[in-house]
Amino acid sequence: MNGSSSAQQVHIALGERSYDIAIGAGLLDDPASFDAARAGTQALIVTDATVGPLYAERLARVLARRHPQVRQLALPDGEQHKSWESLNLVFDELLGSGADRKTTLYALGGGVVGDMTGFAAACYMRGVPFVQVPTTLLAQVDSSVGGKTAINHPLGKNMIGAFYQPLAVVCDLDVLKTLPPRELSAGLAEVIKYGPIADMDFLDWIETHVDALRACDPAALAQAVKRSCEIKAEVVGQDERESGLRAILNFGHTFGHAIEAGMGYGAWLHGEAVGAGMVMAAELSRELGLVDAGFVQRLTALIERAGLPTRGPVLDAQDNAGRYLQLMRIDKKAEGGEIRFVLIDGPGRAVVRAVPDALVRQVIDRCCA
Ligand code: NAD
Ligand code: GLY
Repeated sequence: MNGSSSAQQVHIALGERSYDIAIGAGLLDDPASFDAARAGTQALIVTDATVGPLYAERLARVLARRHPQVRQLALPDGEQHKSWESLNLVFDELLGSGADRKTTLYALGGGVVGDMTGFAAACYMRGVPFVQVPTTLLAQVDSSVGGKTAINHPLGKNMIGAFYQPLAVVCDLDVLKTLPPRELSAGLAEVIKYGPIADMDFLDWIETHVDALRACDPAALAQAVKRSCEIKAEVVGQDERESGLRAILNFGHTFGHAIEAGMGYGAWLHGEAVGAGMVMAAELSRELGLVDAGFVQRLTALIERAGLPTRGPVLDAQDNAGRYLQLMRIDKKAEGGEIRFVLIDGPGRAVVRAVPDALVRQVIDRCCA
């Protein structure tokens, strides 16, 4: 069993690529948390300039029992650095230190570090092992799980990447205590999304506990991380490489990615863009008669209570809807230049489909500040 005895486990069933997510307090300091990692000579902790000073030494101490050589690399912090330049810093470090094929990468940070470290692990010597140690709520409930790794391109979010699964995910809930409130709210966007697409009971639960979550209540956070990971495990277990079902996890993301790219990476946090994006996607679902106005109001109210924006920014004063559409055509779900949206098809159920541009324009005009 991974981690301390109080840790909860969620299993990702992917045949030979299966692994466990350990969720609990104090896991970072417990060597048993990393039992699934291979015992190669070398390890590299990849972190960022904010998380490194807080947690990298502690992780290095624990990993030293497993790997005789543990190095650290702190990448520049922020979405604007989820780029080729940062990725290359990882390769420079690996090659410069003589890292071999058994070198294990440890991603210590939020989704930016996790996505980049995973991509570096997928590429270095055609694949080396890696472990996710997510330190944001967003990364614990979503990005560290399921093997999507990527960097951004100026023209489109997460457009360069690979599917590459970690050996394990270690979610130490204690590290969330140092997370700034704005980042905690951003993580709540990805928690909230699981309700409308898959589990309305969970949506009820989030509505009851949203204040406790924002106050960093340990029991509430533990439940939010566990249930989110369970839902994600179920979806990823059925469709690892997003040939269909997995796309529902992108509810709100088509609009959200356009906001992030259109505003310039880092101006809006990923979770903030997803918050406003979920309102727009719900509104589009209502326009198509898939949900009623009460459902949209309910979701919007929860997103607002989570401390997230519920209206999209204006990306172009002349033709805002046109700019959104242009950005949304560069999306991994698009087929033949046709944008495909994740819509709510009745509470707790999602569907992916194309929508006439005219309708999308109406929704954008109505939902942007
Ligand atoms: P992030 O990685 O930029 O982290 C947010 C900020 O919090 C950073 O400044 C970081 O330094 C700081 N931070 C992290 N942990 C901290 C801690 N414990 N205490 C104090 N500060 C801390 O952002 P994020 O929201 O974690 O991740 C967003 C990224 O995740 C986006 O690039 C998005 O595309 C990606 N993502 C990927 C997937 C996937 O399936 N791979 C899913 C969702 C999101
Ligand atoms: N965050 C979307 C996915 O993992 O598919």
